[in-house]
Amino acid sequence: MSNKIAVVILAAGKGTRLKMDIPKPLAPLHNRVLLDYVLEAVDGLGDIHLITGHQNEVVEGHVNTVWPSLGAKYILQKEQLGTGHAVRTYFESNEQADDYDYTLVMCADTPLLTKEILLELKDEMEKGPDAVAATFEEQVPFGYGRIIRAEHGFTIVEEKDASDEERLIKEVNSGLYIFKTQYLKNHIFNIDSNNKAGEFYLTDTFKEDANVKAHLYADKSYFMGVNDLYQLARTERNLIQRNIKNLLISGVRILDPSHTYIHAKEIGIGSVIYPNVHIDVNSKIGSNVTIEPGCFITNSKIEDGAVIKANTYITDSVVGKNVKIGPMAHLRPGSEIGDGSKLGNFVEIKKSVVGENTSISHLSYLGDAEVGNDVNIGCGFITCNYDGANKHKTIIGDGSFIGSDTQMIAPINIGKECYVASGSTINKSMVDGSFAVARGRQTTKEGMAKRFIKKKDKK
Ligand code: UD1
Ligand code: CA
Repeated sequence: MSNKIAVVILAAGKGTRLKMDIPKPLAPLHNRVLLDYVLEAVDGLGDIHLITGHQNEVVEGHVNTVWPSLGAKYILQKEQLGTGHAVRTYFESNEQADDYDYTLVMCADTPLLTKEILLELKDEMEKGPDAVAATFEEQVPFGYGRIIRAEHGFTIVEEKDASDEERLIKEVNSGLYIFKTQYLKNHIFNIDSNNKAGEFYLTDTFKEDANVKAHLYADKSYFMGVNDLYQLARTERNLIQRNIKNLLISGVRILDPSHTYIHAKEIGIGSVIYPNVHIDVNSKIGSNVTIEPGCFITNSKIEDGAVIKANTYITDSVVGKNVKIGPMAHLRPGSEIGDGSKLGNFVEIKKSVVGENTSISHLSYLGDAEVGNDVNIGCGFITCNYDGANKHKTIIGDGSFIGSDTQMIAPINIGKECYVASGSTINKSMVDGSFAVARGRQTTKEGMAKRFIKKKDKK
């Protein structure tokens, strides 16, 4: 039987230094909040207990909404008297706390921690100590608790309480620990607050003569904490760098990694990403895709071979294989572009489906439309989809040709293989194969032919 773990996340602090009007666990990092990254890392490891305090309802509300299946338990620490006090509160207000073999304690403000780091800590624990603290080396250790190694165990001395000599120590406490529950319980009620901060320090549960271990991690980037907006920005850069490194190694060409903002994890081999491109974590990019500078891609799928030219903005959309888009095109939510189609500069598409090998090359707006395959739409086309109260649909069938500077007054259904002459405002549906010319004057192909013959007869 594997050991039962209680995960205790300290999230009661105010986060004053962030200078934001929100509790620190909810500080934004990419499209989520700090706490989400921590919860993702601990998910599946054990039963989750969140120590909340400042704006606890807001923090709990977030977890209940975003992580409904996590079953997180909340422990309110009304007054924040230190990390040791937080863990005391946990034991005092949770009768089941004793049921766990291990208690893992961590902070809500280290979003770069991964499951692998946590499992490594657990592995150290399985080797027999009563507690393990995760440590790393920091060249400028200011602010961190320093690790004072002794013959058997070790102690942690906080910045405020350290002597000048102790302050030179570069091995620091990350704030992540795992304890045998009984060891933690035995010691947490014996610590005092006789220190410079007047707080109960969780770190005082580590003793130089105890069976405790400081486990030194080689890569400190996983433990980067967020206390202010500078550290938040650095953390985001780190999150991106880690992802970009994985992408580069997997075969994606990212021309200037330090000026590219990619959170997406799935990008196919052979794709080329230019600088200043933003791709969020919910997007998926196929192989051999080219994305030129200045593109924003959010919650979208770009399939193999597509070329997204400079300064194109794509949100909640799907772009098919070998599609060419932009420069300066805008795909708004709900757009689907079929394989081989082409959208040129200043083309805006909203909630519309475009078929395969269709071309909308210049200065057009398509809203609430369904455009078939092999359609050619000239320059300056507009769907007039909104009547001031409601949105209406425009349908254009396969193989139709829509001349430049044309408007369609929706709702309207243009059949297959229709021909609309340039400069027309069309307000009536057209049957397959029909022809229309300016301001809604329409005729069938046959009617057109008759007129043509009459004219010829007159001559
Ligand atoms: C703590 C460690 C320090 C370590 C550092 C790593 C102690 C005494 N010190 O210092 O050795 O190097 O983390 O970042 O633990 N919290 C509560 N209730 C409280 C106090 C704090 O929930 O009463 C929470 C905070 O919201 C925060 C976390 O505990 O998420 C850490 O508290 P903080 O005051 O930031 O500790 P540090 O001074 O950073
Ligand atoms: Ca901190």
